[in-house]
Amino acid sequence: MKMPLSFSDLIAQGLVQGRRVLIRSDLNVPLDTHGAILEDTRIRASLACVRMALEAGAAVMITSHLGRPKEGVFRPEDSLAPVASHLAALLGREVPLRSRWVEGVAIRPGELVMLENCRINPGEKGNDELLSRKMAALCDVYVNDAFGTAHRAEATTHGIARYAPLACAGPLLAAELQALSRVLAAPKRPLVAIVGGSKVSTKLTVLRHLADRVDQLIVGGGIANTFMLAAGLPVGHSLVEPGLVEEAGAVMAAMRARGAVVPIPTDVVVAGRIADNVPTQVKAAAAVSGDDMILDIGPETSALLAAQIQAAGTIVWNGPMGVFEHAPFASGTEAVARAIAGSKAFSVAGGGETLAAIARYGVAAHIGYISTGGGAFIEMLEGKALPAVEALIVRAEEHRG
Ligand code: 3PG
Repeated sequence: MKMPLSFSDLIAQGLVQGRRVLIRSDLNVPLDTHGAILEDTRIRASLACVRMALEAGAAVMITSHLGRPKEGVFRPEDSLAPVASHLAALLGREVPLRSRWVEGVAIRPGELVMLENCRINPGEKGNDELLSRKMAALCDVYVNDAFGTAHRAEATTHGIARYAPLACAGPLLAAELQALSRVLAAPKRPLVAIVGGSKVSTKLTVLRHLADRVDQLIVGGGIANTFMLAAGLPVGHSLVEPGLVEEAGAVMAAMRARGAVVPIPTDVVVAGRIADNVPTQVKAAAAVSGDDMILDIGPETSALLAAQIQAAGTIVWNGPMGVFEHAPFASGTEAVARAIAGSKAFSVAGGGETLAAIARYGVAAHIGYISTGGGAFIEMLEGKALPAVEALIVRAEEHRG
């Protein structure tokens, strides 16, 4: 995989000291209705880049989007103020927040400022050229460290990279690209992909792309139900997409043709409805009846998948095995999480539900790499080029001559 210039290389070449550095991070974190940060992984993951820039003696500006505000309208709830305060607490220094910053930012080397929610600026979403040029003029070095937003071609993720004097990838973006290319480009075999979640339709491109590459494609959640139907098994009242049975069959056939497999659950956990404390039953997959809803994989399937995961050389994980938010349907996801954590394979995990499962079972320290990307992580698994990364690669090629 072609890689962008790295920020650390530019620092080593003396191109950052005393310069104005504009960092685009993804600080789009969940907030409660009072503006309190509910989960700060993305802010913590962005610290390294900010520290590197400050230590290199730059004048440092950092910006991000927060939510999806209307352009040209400032509403207090769209402000990055809580993020700036949190970053200040983590860094142990003040992080002043500047609004209306596109026309100019007064800053000196050694200073750090946060530039208000970039999606408020008219033209951000549309990747407007004039806006991109104005923002590029604010800096000597543009650093994109926003992997979570790398699938968006917006003015702060794409346009600015075309016009800034120097444009490079920050340490988080570089680490994400390296981890995913280690999985997708030259993985140690067997390569096991685990794709869970409710609908085949939302992961169809991922499933098709992985079907040509992985040795085992483990499906979970509602996705597995559609595969079970394609395998001729009964699914009762379960969440299923009958219109995608043919697609699921095609994925299985493509895998079979390469000597690879989609392991179909042999037993499942069923219940009449989704709730905590409902009566559940473990049934053989072939014995699911008309009133049953399949809400998790069964213990036999969990053990089988755990053995495959243990034997893997590389693992990529996105999506739960069952409705794990409810205790009666959490065992499958827990078994898979623990098997990945116990495996010697290099593992990469990403996506909101997957990160929630990793946190719940306390296995983060045993996962090879945990991605901060949601949509961007999925698009990499789909084999798509990320526009923000492509823009940096073009600049890297120009720079390297
Ligand atoms: C995310 O949360 O997935 C990223 O920050 C991208 O946000 P977006 O979907 O609003 O572009």
